[in-house]
Amino acid sequence: MLAIDRPEGAASVPHPEGRLPGNVVLEHAEYCTDDGCSAMCIVLAVDEQGCATRGRGEAASRFYPILHHPKAARAERPIVDGVSHPTVKPRGVMDWLVALACRPGDTVPDMFAGTGTTLEACRAAGVHSVGIEREANYIPLIHERLKS
Ligand SMILES: C[S@@+](CC[C@H](N)C(=O)[O-])C[C@H]1O[C@@H](n2cnc3c(N)ncnc32)[C@H](O)[C@@H]1O
Repeated sequence: MLAIDRPEGAASVPHPEGRLPGNVVLEHAEYCTDDGCSAMCIVLAVDEQGCATRGRGEAASRFYPILHHPKAARAERPIVDGVSHPTVKPRGVMDWLVALACRPGDTVPDMFAGTGTTLEACRAAGVHSVGIEREANYIPLIHERLKS
């Protein structure tokens, strides 16, 4: 155990071995299974950085929330007049993030709305949202998602 003296009046003292960054969520790669991670997995990459365990003998990834969620199902991908979006986020992930970060009545600005998955998750959680999307042909996808 390393004792760190806090100088008089100092709010905090940097740990000499560095610190684990806050506000980070890790996500398993698509082909990870319960038996192990695939080579491109960020969870695996973090765990291979043994220095981040600070000698506690635990894999560093245990200090972060870890997502393992399948890609958005076909039913979650709106198509309007043959237009679809290439990178629709899974609704379950956005539900989880909104619950993690927001209280009912908060307002979420989504500057990269895409098909509006985040806006839909906000509405379900009683959270206000403002969506901005650069590509005009994706706007009908947002309307389609939110019309129900
Ligand atoms: C990863 S997608 C978002 C997908 C969305 N979360 C969903 O589940 O449908 C990012 C979106 O940001 C939009 N975008 C990129 N740059 C932008 C900008 N400067 N202003 C507004 N939208 C932008 C892209 O057109 C794209 O639709």
